[in-house]
Amino acid sequence: MGRSILTSGVVLALAAQFASAVLPRGVHKARVLKEPADLADSYDYVIVGGGTAGLTIADRLTEDEDTTVLVIEYGLLSDSESIKTVRGGFGGFGAPGALFPTRSVPQVNLGNRVIDVLAGKVVGGSSAVNAMMTIRGAKGDYDRWGQFFREDSEWSWEGILPYFKKALTFVPPNEDVAESSGIVYDTSFWGEGESGVYTSWPSFQYPGTSAQLEAWKEVPGVTFPPDSGSGETGVYWYPQFMDPKLVERSYARTGHYSNSDRENYHLVTNSKVIKIVVEDGTATGVSFRPADDPAGEVSTIKASKEVIVSAGAVHTPQVLQLSGIGPSALLEAAGIETIVDLPGVGQNFQDHPMLTARFTLRSLDVSPKESDLSRGGEFRTWADEVWAANRTGPYSIATGNLAAWLSYPVISARYDEIATRLEEQDHAAYLPEGTDSTVAAGYKAQMLSYAEALRANHTGFYNHAITASPSNGIIVDLHPLSRGTININPENPDAEPLVDYRALSNPLDAAIMADIIRFARSFYMDNAFNAQYDPVESQPGASVQTDEEMATYLARTLSPTEYHPAGTAAMLPKELGGVVDEDLRVYGVAGLRVADASIMPTLVGANTCQTVYAIAEKAADLIKGSVTTTNTNR
Ligand SMILES: Cc1cc2nc3c(=O)[nH]c(=O)nc-3n(C[C@H](O)[C@H](O)[C@H](O)COP(=O)(O)OP(=O)(O)OC[C@H]3O[C@@H](n4cnc5c(N)ncnc54)[C@H](O)[C@@H]3O)c2cc1C
Ligand SMILES: *[C@@H]1O[C@H](CO)[C@@H](O)[C@H](O)[C@H]1NC(C)=O
Ligand SMILES: *[C@@H]1O[C@H](CO)[C@@H](O)[C@H](O)[C@H]1NC(C)=O
Repeated sequence: MGRSILTSGVVLALAAQFASAVLPRGVHKARVLKEPADLADSYDYVIVGGGTAGLTIADRLTEDEDTTVLVIEYGLLSDSESIKTVRGGFGGFGAPGALFPTRSVPQVNLGNRVIDVLAGKVVGGSSAVNAMMTIRGAKGDYDRWGQFFREDSEWSWEGILPYFKKALTFVPPNEDVAESSGIVYDTSFWGEGESGVYTSWPSFQYPGTSAQLEAWKEVPGVTFPPDSGSGETGVYWYPQFMDPKLVERSYARTGHYSNSDRENYHLVTNSKVIKIVVEDGTATGVSFRPADDPAGEVSTIKASKEVIVSAGAVHTPQVLQLSGIGPSALLEAAGIETIVDLPGVGQNFQDHPMLTARFTLRSLDVSPKESDLSRGGEFRTWADEVWAANRTGPYSIATGNLAAWLSYPVISARYDEIATRLEEQDHAAYLPEGTDSTVAAGYKAQMLSYAEALRANHTGFYNHAITASPSNGIIVDLHPLSRGTININPENPDAEPLVDYRALSNPLDAAIMADIIRFARSFYMDNAFNAQYDPVESQPGASVQTDEEMATYLARTLSPTEYHPAGTAAMLPKELGGVVDEDLRVYGVAGLRVADASIMPTLVGANTCQTVYAIAEKAADLIKGSVTTTNTNR
């Protein structure tokens, strides 16, 4: 039996090789991929950015063969093995030219450190370079979005759940691995396989991962939801963006582009959109130039129905601002004529801060360990063998599959005090000087919503990825209070934008992060299960205790990014500094929508990719007009 499977696999592989030998290279993709000279003059829809959201929307819109779509992408198609490999999760970094070269402005509260701003510049966007963690976050994150508009908005947990189900095809784990490592999942939170983007499981788990699960059972208040998609906070197992058959990255390109040979779906690469053409208040087209040649020829393509901006949270505000849509003072300084004075464009920037902390359970024997792979020996030999033979074993693990996502009352006894301090702040004082009053009003609304969330269990604040080794993995603050900006550089608007995280600009962030570190400390150092393994703290270390000491430590060690930029074209009422309404339409311009991570008014308490896919699926339905909101805010 095993043999015949293997034989047919070999036959298939040979057939595939033969096919690629006889067909001219790339013929399958040629219908979709175009040179600028081969484009039509006009399409129904022009999409700016062939990333996570852009390709998802293009795929869904072209399901109707009478609808024509052009996607304009800055980067190239990359067949780099670094993108395909799941091993270790961060392979995409190694793909040549697949990331923008953007760096932040010096962070004044972080000792003027300059931070690398990572964002995908390749067909597939950031889904091509991300760490493949498939996370959905908690109900409160999605209910909050709609509540900025009205009580019964469709932007809610219940409203987005069908799109989560549509966005990914979930394939359950191997039963033996699930049983031996204690993986739980519940397919009722997933859909019927309507998507070419897969989320699935590695065929191996390190014993050290499950060992840590026991320690979490000791922590009062910690719950264990039945599935990563349940919308509950707690400690749970999660899958990874992986094609389970190929054991390769599954992403927007493989799921929403590669299998398409539709005549009505065009993609042009190496093309930087420099302007949305707006005529009499309506977006009518898009201008772009060769991405690698600032002096190259500018082409303009008409959009007869709509322009959709999906350039990601770092570049969507730049595209809007270059088009005269943004804060008028900034546009004026850059010498750009204001088409719509929209103060929120490029404001409200959020990302997940990563904290530095190191705790080790010195005598926990969890062999084999992750580190054994680099050491060689028997385990490494076995890993190499099973991977080469069947693509199974440790090399099928992306970044790990177990993590804690905890609400504030579970991690800190002073949750009510912190919430009260947040309510009583002069919120606007923590925004950049000259911030528009509507943007400040939106910020205040967000902080009041967070104050409520700090006292409840429907929103995660603490995130801790659990590794296979005896030391902790990444520890993250899921809801930073500080807000940054991403604006064009007035001196050189066409250059990479000025990214300012404004990390720690709201001083309560440091207090919350101090609680997060203290909770991690108590998890390792005071936990009855962990106590038997001789725990030690090497960072921040015993000398860092008070809020003040913690704040100093954070300024020195904090990363303001987990590569989850969001919020820079926020879906909020206009009087709250919003850029798009509940239908994702840009205020003040007809025929123009934004659909990508930039529309999140508040960052979700989760890695952002799954949410972006769901936003894009919902956007496609909104654009098709198959659903509408009862939005009166236009
Ligand atoms: C290193 C890294 C690790 C991550 N890890 C995870 C993870 O493990 N799990 C998770 O859930 N999330 C993760 N994320 C976040 C997640 O991948 C992103 O939130 C999501 O992919 C963003 O989708 P998007 O559609 O908003 O933007 P993108 O997917 O980035 O797409 C934007 C596209 O627009 C193009 N573009 C930009 N400007 C222009 C222009 N002027 N003209 C034409 N095209 C343009 C870009 O080249 C890009 O292809 C990670 C991100 C990074 C960078
Ligand atoms: C939140 O969870 C904690 C721990 O389980 C519990 O003590 C508390 O009552 C919960 N709070 C609310 C508002 O449900
Ligand atoms: C690969 O899979 C086949 C079929 O399940 C199995 O018989 C074989 O032992 C596997 N090879 C290795 C090296 O694990």
